Amino acid sequence: MQIYVFYIQYFKPKSLNFNPINVYFCCSYNFEMIFSNILINWYSIHKRDLPWRKTKNPYLIWLSEIILQQTQIKQGQPYYEAFVSKFPTVNALANAKESEVLKLWQGLGYYSRARNLHFSAKYISNELHNQFPKTHKELIALKGIGDYTASAIASICYNQPTAVVDGNVYRVLSRYFNICTPINSTKGIKEFKTLAQQLLPKTNIGDYNQAIMEFGALQCKPANPSCNECPLQNGCKAYELDKTDRLPVKLKKTKVSKKYFNFLVFLSNDGKTILEQRTKKGIWQNLYQFPLIESKKSLTKNVLISHLTVKPFLNGNTYELSLYNDKDIVHKLSHQHLYTKFWIIKTHTLPKESTPISKIRQHAVPILIGNFIEQFNF
Ligand code: ADE
Repeated sequence: MQIYVFYIQYFKPKSLNFNPINVYFCCSYNFEMIFSNILINWYSIHKRDLPWRKTKNPYLIWLSEIILQQTQIKQGQPYYEAFVSKFPTVNALANAKESEVLKLWQGLGYYSRARNLHFSAKYISNELHNQFPKTHKELIALKGIGDYTASAIASICYNQPTAVVDGNVYRVLSRYFNICTPINSTKGIKEFKTLAQQLLPKTNIGDYNQAIMEFGALQCKPANPSCNECPLQNGCKAYELDKTDRLPVKLKKTKVSKKYFNFLVFLSNDGKTILEQRTKKGIWQNLYQFPLIESKKSLTKNVLISHLTVKPFLNGNTYELSLYNDKDIVHKLSHQHLYTKFWIIKTHTLPKESTPISKIRQHAVPILIGNFIEQFNF
């Protein structure tokens, strides 16, 4: 059947400052239907072949979505496969030790996601008797599950009408409808969610949600989008106005602070080092690290030596101190940049609580330390 588009008109309803959908089609086809059909059709042809696209098991979808919030698909897939292989069910994950979960997560960063995943797996297993929640409302009540993840699980696994809005969706919608509200403002978050919700088709909701995300990732890319062969080109406002490179709009982030980290890598003659578990709340809570001296400025060797005298590890032993990395390793987190030095301290013996170097890789460590362990070839 041929579909004729009569006209597209923008209007401002009372409930929203801006609502771009007021589109009239003949033959009882409406705009949402055309928009979603185009994307679902595109998705059926172009979607990547990924393991979590072959299942509707909510535990596996949850796992994939949490991992994909941390990293790109290419980097995330091996983590997904490792988790599924080691913890094939929510019950298996619930019964794991936190240290095992963190170890498997190592390298993805933002460890609270892994801790929350584990916490909620235990809740589902013990309190809900392995019955995975099915509605957006029940899902969002779980620790670590926000609007995006609840919408993804509810729509993909249970075909519930809940729209996902991730970075890809923001990009596609802001460009198609020429929406300039910053996507990281309260107003923008509300506006885009409302619009995404209005665009949902009546059926195939899970496929549509994945289609718009995949479309953003592969076609409507942040830089150099493939507009020439885009199935949405006809109605795309940003294309018409030649402003795809200016959308979406994002508010500038707050300033990042600099911190100086000095890790003390002890090496004793009997093959031991010192690892400490971080107990302080924060992104690295419960992970292991070498003893750390944090400072406001970069430390010289002499200043570090003055710090060492107050550390209890050396027990008056003689030691040999050298700096491993001449140039600081800069580890970038969202709000701070960590300028890091690894100091090697060779000494005779270390206190009893020290760790055999042969066991160092069994500990879950922040990636900053993990990379050092790899490079140093412990
Ligand atoms: N990005 C994150 N999750 C996704 C999904 N399920 N489909 C497409 N892109 C995604």
